[in-house]
Formats: sequence, C-alpha cells, structure tokens
Amino acid sequence: MQWLFDCSGAQNEIRIFMKAVEALYEAHKIAFSPFVFETAYTMLELGILESIYNHREGISIENCAQETGVSEYGVRVLVEMAEAASIVESNADGLYVTTKIGHFLLRDEMTRVNLYFTHDVCYKGLFHLKESIVNGKPEGLKELGDWNTIYEGLSVLPEHIKKSWFDFDHHYSDNSFNDALKIIFKDEPKQIYDIGGNTGKWAIASTKHDPDVRVKMFDLPGQIGVAKENIGKIDEIKDRVEYQTVNLLDPSSEIPGGADVYWMSQFLDCFSEEEIEQILLKIRKNISKDSRVYIMETFIDNQRFPAATHSLVATSLYFTVIANGNSKMYTSTAMKYIVDKAGFECIDEHHLHGDSFHTILELKLK
Ligand SMILES: C[S@@+](CC[C@H](N)C(=O)[O-])C[C@H]1O[C@@H](n2cnc3c(N)ncnc32)[C@H](O)[C@@H]1O
Repeated sequence: MQWLFDCSGAQNEIRIFMKAVEALYEAHKIAFSPFVFETAYTMLELGILESIYNHREGISIENCAQETGVSEYGVRVLVEMAEAASIVESNADGLYVTTKIGHFLLRDEMTRVNLYFTHDVCYKGLFHLKESIVNGKPEGLKELGDWNTIYEGLSVLPEHIKKSWFDFDHHYSDNSFNDALKIIFKDEPKQIYDIGGNTGKWAIASTKHDPDVRVKMFDLPGQIGVAKENIGKIDEIKDRVEYQTVNLLDPSSEIPGGADVYWMSQFLDCFSEEEIEQILLKIRKNISKDSRVYIMETFIDNQRFPAATHSLVATSLYFTVIANGNSKMYTSTAMKYIVDKAGFECIDEHHLHGDSFHTILELKLK
C-alpha cells in the first residue's frame, strides 16, 4: 500500500505545483496588464482587430499589414500580445482569427465605452493612484486640467476626452430611462427636481413623456449652460424646464421645497458618505411629507454579471484618482444606511430589468 500513498502524495504535489504555476501566470497577467490594455486599444484604433475579424477564414500578419497600412513589425508585436491575451488565436493554417474576447472588444458597445473611457479619461491619471489614496485627493486630475473636481472641467475638456466621458455617463443612464419613467410617473408628479441633471437628458425624456410635467434642473454652471443649449432647441418642452446653478458642496447651498419628485440619477456616487448625508439633509429641510425622493444607482451588490461588478469597482477608482478623490460606487446596503441616517425611509427598491444594471430607491420622509 505504501506505493499508493507515495503516488497520491506525488499527485498532490503536482496539483499544488500546477496551482502555483496558474497563480504565477495570473500574477504575470496583472504585472503586464497595461500592455494588454494598450494592445487592445491600439488594435482597435489602427483597424487591425477589424481586419482580422473580417477574415473569418483567418489572415496572415503580412496580409493584415498590407490591408491596414501598418508595418509588419507593428502588426506582429500587437498580434503576438493579443494572442497571449486570448484576443486572437491562430487557426490550423497558421492564420489569425478573432476569439470571442476579440469579438466583444470590437462589437460590444459597453466594452467599447468602458475601454475608451479608461483610455481617454483615466489612463494617465491612474498613474497617480497611490498619491490619491495617500492624500485623499484626485491627484490624477491634473493630467486633464487644473480643477478641484472633474465636474468643474467637464464642459471644457478636449473634445475626444469629453466624448469618452459623456459616452460612458450616457451609456449607463440612457438605457435605464425608459423603465425609470414608468416608476417615477406612477404617482403623476407635476414638478420634478432633477438634481445633478447634467446635459438635460432626463429633463428632455421626462418632459417628452408627460406634456404637463415641469422639471427644474440643478447642477454646476458648465453643465447648466450645456443643458440650456440642448433643451432650448426643443420647442415642445423648452418652456417647462427651469435651471438653477448650484454647487451642492457649498455649505450654504440649498435645495428648495416645491417638488413632487426629487430625482437623483447617478449623482450621489459623486460624493463621499458624509457629503451624501449632507445633500439628503438639504432636501429634507424643505421637502413636503407627500413628496418622493428617487435615487437611481448601479449598486455593486445588485449586479447579476461578474463583468458588471468588475466595471463598478473599477469605476470607484476613477472617482478616487480623477473625479473627486473621496467617492465611489456604493452598495445598496451602504446607501440605505446613509438614507436612514439622513431621516428618510426607503419605501421601495425597484430593480430595473433588461439591459439595465440600475436600482431605484424610493424614499419618503420618516
Ligand atoms: C455622473 S453625472 C450624472 C448625470 C445624470 N444625472 C445622469 O444620470 O446621467 C453627475 C452630475 O452631477 C453634477 N455634480 C457633481 N458635483 C456637483 C456639485 N457639487 N454640485 C452640483 N452638481 C454636481 C455633475 O456636474 C454631473 O452633471
């Protein structure tokens, strides 16, 4: 029997060794992850991934170079890295084809939005993550401009960076607006306050949805300027939207009473827990007892897919290093704790379906 023990001991050692080899490989992937990221970005930008994708039967390095106008050397180093990262693979004829991962990088809208946001908005700033954590400030923001928070600079960002920021922001909120409208309009509100209304997408959607509703937007001056321009062009709604510039981090700022609905979509994640409590207290000060507060967020703990959770925890680091240095994507549990502390009761939790990753918390005064 001794041989059996010896054998199973050896197998165990092999298993442990294999696990260590796999772990070492994963550790190396992390060590070189910016190389993989930049490879994917560059292959998209130079049309190399598109060229490989279009040749379902496979394409050689030489032909891909000819088709894209990139040097053979350039295509070769990129494709070799992409193969190691399972973005492309070589077929039985030694020609390159895209894998499922390559397909998603190329054709999945959310992947592209995330990738360009990472590249254009976050990449250089991420170099300052350590300082941001140590100093509690968005030390990477200086790579984009000289502001205290990204929100002060949004309307004047260079065009391609602005596009990537807004594509990212709008991709996540726009997909949820149709479902959100049904929830918010169930009580037939006459006056909505859209706090952090940004470029006016919600104001437009809600005033088009209900020809009688009025919306007042609250935001920083740059965003209010853009929203006014966007909404001013739409005759059927422009007279039903009002604007108030406000910096809600200013301790003297106020949120007036008079709304049936206080709507905050992807807004409170721009603030620390203490700041969220202060904003909710500003609402509480003037809100009437029959009004409702709706908080729409992509909560970390309400996701069905690991890709979504991964995106959200990464987005938290965008807040750390670029946006403001002190906010994050929250769990619904954390948000409900702050809500309760600020004197509100969460009376419903609406989970949006379909392509959406959002939850709407419905609150009323305690
Ligand atoms: C992530 S965007 C969300 C926009 C929109 N509600 C949506 O769902 O797409 C956050 C908005 O909050 C605004 N914001 C950030 N800090 C603010 C502050 N201190 N005072 C007022 N608005 C602020 C930003 O300007 C921006 O328009």
